[in-house]
Amino acid sequence: MRFHVLTLFPDAFGIFAHYSIIGRAVERGLLSVEATDIREFTADRHGTADDYQFGGGPGMVMKPEPVFGAAAAALSDTPAAERARTPVVLTSPQGRTLDQALVDEFATAPGMVIICGHYAGVDERIRQGLVTHEISIGDYVLTGGELAAMVIIDAVSRFVPGVVGSEENVQEDSITSGLLQHPLYTRPAEFRGMATPDVLRSGNHAEIERWRRHKSLERTLRLRPDLLDTAPLTNSDRVYLASIGWDGGQHA
Ligand code: ADE
Repeated sequence: MRFHVLTLFPDAFGIFAHYSIIGRAVERGLLSVEATDIREFTADRHGTADDYQFGGGPGMVMKPEPVFGAAAAALSDTPAAERARTPVVLTSPQGRTLDQALVDEFATAPGMVIICGHYAGVDERIRQGLVTHEISIGDYVLTGGELAAMVIIDAVSRFVPGVVGSEENVQEDSITSGLLQHPLYTRPAEFRGMATPDVLRSGNHAEIERWRRHKSLERTLRLRPDLLDTAPLTNSDRVYLASIGWDGGQHA
């Protein structure tokens, strides 16, 4: 999977692409994170990538020519058929909020272009002529789109085969499975008076699975009851949820 990031701050992606799980995947050739400096595609020697807005008003606007130029350069060695399946994302607090469904959709693409928005915003022609998805990572405003781009790359990369140790893990993760995760324990069995539940040390795998499922359901009901409206629940899940106070959900 190739991530082409168009940014005014390409150095911001240096460490990101070289540490932990993403770094290992890049090293193994499963991913690439290529940062293209938008300023290299500006027409003047000062590298001016922004300008005042027509009609007046505070805040600068990212100019269209450098962004279109950077996108063309980033995709120059991508075959046309692949390019057609490559989402072009603009990071912006006005976009659709990133969620697992969108992450899954992006993970099926051969690559992504991510434009890191800055200043008051981008010239509208960038949306009209280049962008396929405008994505927010939450209802708050960042100083720029670089962190949002890293969040998107990180979340999508987990679904690229081989990036995370075992694919099964990824599918069973909290949220991906539709429920929050059950509690986890490791050694020591007792720590500062807090014991590990006996069942986890019983060796009875059916009982352990049952306990974990119940804890997932309890935690989801307590912290994110909205997830229960869409989670794949079995009949016995429903019976258990009813026994701990779930009223069946489906309301705001
Ligand atoms: N740029 C500024 N704020 C942002 C946000 N919340 N999500 C994505 N890009 C942004």
